[in-house]
Amino acid sequence: MWEKFTERTRRIIYRAQEEAHRYGHPNVGTEHLLLGILDEPDSMAARVLETLAGSLDSIRLSTVSGLPAGSKNPATKIGRTRSARRVLELAEDEATQQGADHIASGHLLVGLVRCREGGAAHILENCSVVLPAVRAEITAELTGQNGSNRGEDARLDEHSTLKSLPPLVRSALGHTWRHMSYRSRRAIEAALSEAAQRGDTLVTPDYLVLGALKDSDSAVARVFRRMEVDVKALVDDIKASLKSHGEPRKVDRHMELRATTCAAISDAEMAARVDGTGVIGTAHLVMGVLTLKDSNAAAVLKKHQVNLATLRSLYIELHENDSKASADPDQLSKLTLSQMISRSRLKGKHLLRISDLTPADVALVFAVTDKLKSRKGRGGADEASALHRGKTLALVFQKPSLRTRVTFEIGMNQLGGHALHLGPDEIGVGERESPADVARNLERWVHGIVARTFKHSLVEELAANSTIPVINGLSDLEHPCQALADLYTLRERKGAVKGLTLMYIGDGNNVCRSLMELCALTGTNLRIASPEGYEPDATAVAALKPVFEAAGAELWVGRDPIEAAKGSDAVYTDVWTSMGQEEEAAIRHAAFQPYQLNMKVVNAANPEAIVLHCQPAHREEEITSEAMDCPTSAIFDQAENRMHVQKALMALML
Ligand code: CP
Ligand code: NVA
Repeated sequence: MWEKFTERTRRIIYRAQEEAHRYGHPNVGTEHLLLGILDEPDSMAARVLETLAGSLDSIRLSTVSGLPAGSKNPATKIGRTRSARRVLELAEDEATQQGADHIASGHLLVGLVRCREGGAAHILENCSVVLPAVRAEITAELTGQNGSNRGEDARLDEHSTLKSLPPLVRSALGHTWRHMSYRSRRAIEAALSEAAQRGDTLVTPDYLVLGALKDSDSAVARVFRRMEVDVKALVDDIKASLKSHGEPRKVDRHMELRATTCAAISDAEMAARVDGTGVIGTAHLVMGVLTLKDSNAAAVLKKHQVNLATLRSLYIELHENDSKASADPDQLSKLTLSQMISRSRLKGKHLLRISDLTPADVALVFAVTDKLKSRKGRGGADEASALHRGKTLALVFQKPSLRTRVTFEIGMNQLGGHALHLGPDEIGVGERESPADVARNLERWVHGIVARTFKHSLVEELAANSTIPVINGLSDLEHPCQALADLYTLRERKGAVKGLTLMYIGDGNNVCRSLMELCALTGTNLRIASPEGYEPDATAVAALKPVFEAAGAELWVGRDPIEAAKGSDAVYTDVWTSMGQEEEAAIRHAAFQPYQLNMKVVNAANPEAIVLHCQPAHREEEITSEAMDCPTSAIFDQAENRMHVQKALMALML
């Protein structure tokens, strides 16, 4: 039966074993299976539970409080109770009845509800989780009828892992898979099925288009409706042009992508980069097909009046409208933590630069941070505390750190996982062995990497060779986690960031660069004053100015600190000499003298302007103690918020 379980169901069963072990019970019972579902809050089963019971916390509390005391010396080999075995049989039965080829977490939940001899059924009943409602919710999830993307996402969550693809498809897609939206991944799977149905082992671009259009809610299907394309006729035309290659077959290890399909996917990746969405959606896949020469699929698309320019512009419009809706903080704040996590487009992605994020991602990170921060110190069960149980985060640091190291370590602990610090003298990344090999080793053992490096290219190299998320914990180019914590602090103190003004005095360095990028994303005005020769990168400034404008904000770069401080709601500085620049310390010290954050600067800003510094701070150098400790200083809140924001990032990415 094990082969029939989805990846997610297997994880739930492992989690259930861990729960039994944790409570010192020799067997996995139905209650442990239920806890296993709660430990996977973005599984379909957990989402259904949340919808029906209102809160996963209450189910966890009822379950945990009814567990018998266990042995202090837990068994090394955990068995299954008769009821737990029955639950698995009932889950299989449910999957068979539904004609599903996998036993998904939703089927497991049905098994738990149906198995009356198990304790979990009674707990669920008391929490209003009853069979007809569970079945209705699961059907809605599986058919996407619940008005959101969750149905689609749930299915994919259950099935779409790179590992489940035929080996040749897997190697052809490689790192591209990571950048694909859920629906695009689904489209690839649908393309494989379409080919298999015709006995074909080779996935041509025709199948890719059929796969992308299979889901009537996909972005490309929505854009086609706006373009008034007759999708049914288009699909019929493509199907009519396809030859049968024999008896229908199953998707198996012999299937592969045709070279033209690979070319279309690679063009799709390019299109996603060009339009700035960064995620390869189904519309990009079709854009990729349209760029092919001598392609039957491209010819049929053109026959149905689908042209690249219209598809692209309508898609961008659709994407912007969707992003606006999903970046609305009021809407986001109404979601539960697991709903937020299930919306994450950051899962499995890297965060090397702020530009890896969209405004909607930032809004989601802040919303999750709000949730996690408000849970701090709250008694009772906390679903976040089990979120990353059993997971490990590696901190690959070429430079010293207080805040970044401690906040990631503690943050990961608070999410139930643990962190491993690999300091400057330990692994010699880039010296003892190449970043690529370090990444290829680490990904076999851990679930995420935070890298603090001198050269940004080293973080990039780690990411390019890693299938687990890499987070930049400061490079010579950017400090994205810092900027997120900074703007979160500003939002916390002032209620919002859009339309406010941040002033940065000092070196146009990594911290400054991430602030520039993030202010552009969030519509926050930024005023920078730097000495000659230490301005922020001129190309980046020129590129970002229009982005600020489009967001209704302004980027001002000048020389005079007092002029820069005028009208600011926050004043911010960083060290004069960053790590790795120690040899320049004396010359920098002289150049930066007029660029100290002191009370003159604070007083030139708006009344109640907050004072920020990423730290480590050199009192009486770049900042005076008077400014650092003044009543509106938020410097230590900023440091605390590093942890909350990074917990949110880890919850969304790992
Ligand atoms: N602000 C910051 O990143 O501090 P550390 O260098 O101590 O990590
Ligand atoms: N700009 C500083 C930031 C330290 C957190 C550095 O790179 O050293």
